[in-house]
Amino acid sequence: MASDQNKNWIVIGDEEPGFSLRHFVIPSHYKDDVERVLIPHGMIMDRVEKLAHEIAADTEGPLTVCCILKGGHAFFADLVNRLKKCTNAAGQNLPMQLDFIKVKSYEGDKSSGNVTISYTEQELHDLKGKHLLLVEDIIDTGATMTALLAKLAEYQPASVRVVSLFLKRTPKSVGYIPDYVGVEIPDQFIVGYCLDYNEIFRDLDHVCVISETGKQKYA
Ligand code: HPA
Ligand code: MG
Repeated sequence: MASDQNKNWIVIGDEEPGFSLRHFVIPSHYKDDVERVLIPHGMIMDRVEKLAHEIAADTEGPLTVCCILKGGHAFFADLVNRLKKCTNAAGQNLPMQLDFIKVKSYEGDKSSGNVTISYTEQELHDLKGKHLLLVEDIIDTGATMTALLAKLAEYQPASVRVVSLFLKRTPKSVGYIPDYVGVEIPDQFIVGYCLDYNEIFRDLDHVCVISETGKQKYA
């Protein structure tokens, strides 16, 4: 699985199908709704651990770790747990504040790049001078994250970095690449580990490719 291509993350090629469902425990209510396992849960946890080490090594002091809801929440919880055990280049543990932000992208006709975020004006002003780490589940076109970063920059945080567990290779990409990436995936719709299809599949541990049956059932 997964060619390297000299990137700092795992790349799953277009011709790499992942794993047959029969080798994994899949909740019975989803057995017809996913086609195959693309990234097993154990491998996700291994990437989360490595990302935590990389982020900690690059971080000097207090960090405001910001969960992008809802899809980012499993990744956020596991990443923060790992970060708590990491040390930075000076051998110190990282003081962290945890924050949660719900982001909605309005795409009148696809990627308009307009976002609304759940922060109050006060919460936005409180970002001033902070070192932010935004924790996202997936960068697909990148339009939402690009718009979010532009909006947050208005409130003058000291720094903003983005970690995304997944990065989709898609011709619709606006070209945005996050600071840290777990796994680059082909242009397929994935679910599980909190990634949803119409709010379904968040309770699936493995990251799977949705099946036609699943798409129709939960459309
Ligand atoms: N899966 C789940 N949510 C998403 C995806 C995906 O592939 N792309 C953008 N949001
Ligand atoms: Mg998301």
